[in-house]
Amino acid sequence: MLLELNHIEKKYPLPSGKGEICVLKDISLKVARGEAIAVVGPSGSGKSTLLNIIGSLDKPTSGSVSFAGKNPADLNDAELSKIRNLEIGFIFQLHHLLPQCTVLENVLIPTIPFGPKKDEGDAKAAAVKLLQKVGLESHLDYFPAQLSGGELQRTAVVRALINKPKLILADEPTGSLDRESSENLGRLLVELNKVEGTTLIVVTHSSEIARLMDKTYKLRNGKLRT
Ligand SMILES: Nc1ncnc2c1ncn2[C@@H]1O[C@H](COP(=O)(O)OP(=O)(O)OP(=O)(O)O)[C@@H](O)[C@H]1O
Ligand SMILES: [Mg+2]
Repeated sequence: MLLELNHIEKKYPLPSGKGEICVLKDISLKVARGEAIAVVGPSGSGKSTLLNIIGSLDKPTSGSVSFAGKNPADLNDAELSKIRNLEIGFIFQLHHLLPQCTVLENVLIPTIPFGPKKDEGDAKAAAVKLLQKVGLESHLDYFPAQLSGGELQRTAVVRALINKPKLILADEPTGSLDRESSENLGRLLVELNKVEGTTLIVVTHSSEIARLMDKTYKLRNGKLRT
């Protein structure tokens, strides 16, 4: 197994400071290497919370996570950021691009600290190739403020793929895309899954995207069901 969640519970304090809400209740999940799964569920059901815990951006209130045999809770900050940077590709619901960097520079950011290829030229060529695949070859030098919502999203997707991560966590990756761009992106993710064996966990409201995955889980009332 690449990923195991054991009895995960997540509570958030209420903004009033009085009491808390339990968003995830006793969630257990196993994801094998190379598997592609979709997570669906209503707005506010805890899908982003779940992805953040899987990607060790957030900690569960109780329960444990195992990623490639390691519990993120046992790792120090340097070890954690190395895993996040090299082994996991995040596609966030909000794109989190750096406004002062161009499309190409944004995509290359994850290759800077511990890039597998030290050769800057290789990383750049790989970035340009991926940007071509998502139809952004003419926008390499644009800044985020000059891009449409879908172009921002496609840039964020390429940034998540650039280090060839073992696991891609995608939170509504096609949320602001039209049908054709959404299908293209779905195909790109599935191609990575089939060709590179990349494990995919995709949160989506699109039944077309969900259908492309091996399995679909539904999150509702804090519980995950098939
Ligand atoms: N930091 C936080 N503090 C308090 N409550 C939070 C926090 N983050 C999320 N929540 C609450 O947890 C619930 C689940 O949020 P989450 O973002 O995981 O939902 P979601 O399923 O991703 O929704 P959407 O489909 O709208 O993106 C929401 O009710 C939200 O208000
Ligand atoms: Mg969300």
